[in-house]
Amino acid sequence: MFNIIRNEIIAENLHKLVIMAPRIARARKAGQFVMVRLAQGEERIPLTISDADQEEGTITLFIQAIGTATRKIVAAKAGESIRDVAGPLGQATHITTWGRVVCVGGGVGTAVLYPLVKALADAGNQVTTIIGGRSKPLIILSAELAQISTALIITTEDGSLGTQGFVTAPLAKLLGDAAQIPQAVFAVGPVPMMKAVAELTRPLKIETIVSLNPIMIDGTGMCGGCRVTIGTETKFACVDGPEFDGHLVDFDGLSDRLTCYRTEEACHLIPSECKIGRGATP
Ligand code: NAD
Ligand code: FES
Repeated sequence: MFNIIRNEIIAENLHKLVIMAPRIARARKAGQFVMVRLAQGEERIPLTISDADQEEGTITLFIQAIGTATRKIVAAKAGESIRDVAGPLGQATHITTWGRVVCVGGGVGTAVLYPLVKALADAGNQVTTIIGGRSKPLIILSAELAQISTALIITTEDGSLGTQGFVTAPLAKLLGDAAQIPQAVFAVGPVPMMKAVAELTRPLKIETIVSLNPIMIDGTGMCGGCRVTIGTETKFACVDGPEFDGHLVDFDGLSDRLTCYRTEEACHLIPSECKIGRGATP
């Protein structure tokens, strides 16, 4: 059992959970994740380890409550326990000293980006971080990222904080300035955002690493649920990733697979409106 130390509401449907997991806190590296199951019989979900405190023995997870499993997890209170937290899983981020690096985080993806920025800055890179969300309350970790980044740029779609627009606008501006061209770009967020980032860097041949979030079931390479197409190869995000070369990812295939259980998920959330068995295609 893994004790919940803190459960903070960061924004609407977004919680920060600090969980006692000393072994994982010691072993985890940037880019890795855990599989979390609240109780026996519940669904397992993958969550990136956003931070860890080795002295306290805790790990930090950001959870967007969008489905049945995530809603149940965020409803658990400090002092209660989570049955299974398995990890650290996945490949750690390949960290090297590129020189100038741009890290782009969209919405909740910023929680996944944070440990990457930390590791890249610790390795001596000059990190420009761009984070964006729909509006000010959905911008997370800005103070923490400002401390460790060389520069922090914020965008919101409604203009309530930073520059109005998508994260890709300031990235395009940086890429258009010969003095600011980065050697590598990291992007984490919604699939259309990561695709847009990869399309911006492709003509310039800038190494672009994206963190993928396909549906995962076991998290150990057994079920094939998290398969993604990378160039001509099929890879399992849980064991081969979650980070891949953004110029090789089949983003459209990933989008299709992410939405394939939407009807079932809706049935779990609102059973009275469930159309499965009443003419709808599951
Ligand atoms: P969102 O839809 O509110 O978008 C956040 C920001 O991303 C936007 O404000 C914009 O700046 C950028 N963005 C979105 N679409 C874009 C496009 N077409 N072109 C350029 N920029 C674009 O995001 P949200 O609701 O906070 O995040 C949820 C999404 O992030 C979910 O799809 C979730 O699966 C994904 N996510 C991914 C990871 C990962 O590891 N890749 C981790 C957590 C969440
Ligand atoms: Fe089963 Fe990756 S989650 S193979």
